[in-house]
Amino acid sequence: MSRIDFKNVCKQYAPGLALTINNANLAIGQGDFCVFVGPSGCGKSTLLRMVAGLESITSGDISIADKRVNDLPPAKRGVAMVFQSYALYPHMTVAQNMAFGLQVMGADKAEIERKVKKAADILQLGALLDRLPKALSGGQRQRVAIGRAIVKEPDVFLFDEPLSNLDAALRVQTRLEIAKLHHDIGRSSMIYVTHDQVEAMTLADKIVLLRAGKGVQEEGSVAQFGTPMDLYHRPQNLFVAEFIGSPKMNVMPGKLVRAEPEHAVVEVHGEQITVAVDARGTAAGSPISIGIRPEHLLAGEDGEGCKVHVKLRQMERLGDESLLYMDIAPDAPLVTLRLEGHAMQASGEAITLRLRAEHCHLFDAAGKAFRRTPKLPA
Ligand SMILES: Nc1ncnc2c1ncn2[C@@H]1O[C@H](COP(=O)(O)OP(=O)(O)O)[C@@H](O)[C@H]1O
Ligand SMILES: [Mg+2]
Repeated sequence: MSRIDFKNVCKQYAPGLALTINNANLAIGQGDFCVFVGPSGCGKSTLLRMVAGLESITSGDISIADKRVNDLPPAKRGVAMVFQSYALYPHMTVAQNMAFGLQVMGADKAEIERKVKKAADILQLGALLDRLPKALSGGQRQRVAIGRAIVKEPDVFLFDEPLSNLDAALRVQTRLEIAKLHHDIGRSSMIYVTHDQVEAMTLADKIVLLRAGKGVQEEGSVAQFGTPMDLYHRPQNLFVAEFIGSPKMNVMPGKLVRAEPEHAVVEVHGEQITVAVDARGTAAGSPISIGIRPEHLLAGEDGEGCKVHVKLRQMERLGDESLLYMDIAPDAPLVTLRLEGHAMQASGEAITLRLRAEHCHLFDAAGKAFRRTPKLPA
C-alpha cells in the first residue's frame, strides 16, 4: 500500500541554475527502510521534501502507492515528517504535543487518546506524558517529535537528519530505537536522510547514495541504489567505493597488464597485483585504479596475496584496533591499514602489505567499477 516510485525526477530551484536533483529513478518497496545518504548539499533534503510535498517537482513523477502525487498537497499524501530541529510547543505537555496534529485534523477525543497512548508505548514515553519539553532530555524530545509523526499513522515516515542534534551516545541509542520502531510498525515505509554512512549502513534495507557537484549534471544524482552490502561489496563506481566504509577505501592508480575471465593483473607503483575482477574489453596498458579497504589489507611477509612494500608514517591506536598510515611511493596518498588490537610497529618501519585478489576492487579511467568475480555476500 505504500510503495514509493521516482521516475526521472529532476529539481531545478530556478531557471538558469544547475539541476539540484538530476534524473532520480528509484523504487522503494512497501515497508522498506530507505536511507538517502550523501555529502552535504547533494540534495537529500530536496528529494525528501519533494516526497513530502514541501518542494515542487520540476520534472518527472513521484508516486506513492501507485498514485501520482506531484500535485497533491502534503496533507493528502499519507506522509509524516520528522525534522532535525524537533521544535516542540514549549507550553504543551508531551501528550498535548503529540495530540495537537490530530486535534487540528478534527479527530475525536477517544481516538486521539488511543493513538497518543499507543505512540507513547512504542517510544517508551508513557511516564513522561505530563511533562513539558523543557523537562526532557534531547533524546526524549526527539522521541516526542517522532511520536507526533506516529500518531498520524502515516503510510510513509520521512526523517530528515533526526539525530544530528544529539550527542554521540544518544545518537546510537536513538538509532537503535528507530530501527526497532521500523520493525514494530513494519507496514509503513520509511525514508531517512543522513550524511552519516554508519547510520545509512545500520538502518537501511536500501541505500540511495546521492552525489554532489559536477557528476550530478553528467551522470545523474543517484550514484548507487542498493542494499548496504551491495554498496560495500559491489560499489559501482569510485565515488560509492570511497564514500562507504570508514576509514575509507585505499585507491591507487595503476595500469592494466592483462585481463582474464576471472581475474586481471595490474601494475601499481611497480608491483604486479592480481585482482579478482572481469576487466576483459579494456585494453592492456589502460589506466585503472585499484581499491582495497583498510580492513582487507594484510601485513607481513608470510601468507597469501600479492606483496607491496611500504613504510609506516603514522599510527593511531584505538585500543581494540590500530590504524596504520603508510607511504607506498613518493607523493602518493598514504595507504591505510586497519589491524585488530594493539599494533606494535614503530614509525619509519618497513612493512610488507599483502593484497588478496578477492579483496580488491578495480575501476576504469572514468571511475566505473569492473565486475568482481568472487562469491560476495548478498
Ligand atoms: N530554496 C532553495 N533555492 C535554491 N537553492 C536551494 C534551495 N534549497 C536548497 N538549495 C540548494 O540545493 C542543494 C541541495 O540542498 P539540500 O537538499 O538541502 O542538500 P542536503 O540536504 O543534501 O544537504 C544545495 O546546493 C542548496 O544550496
Ligand atoms: Mg539536508
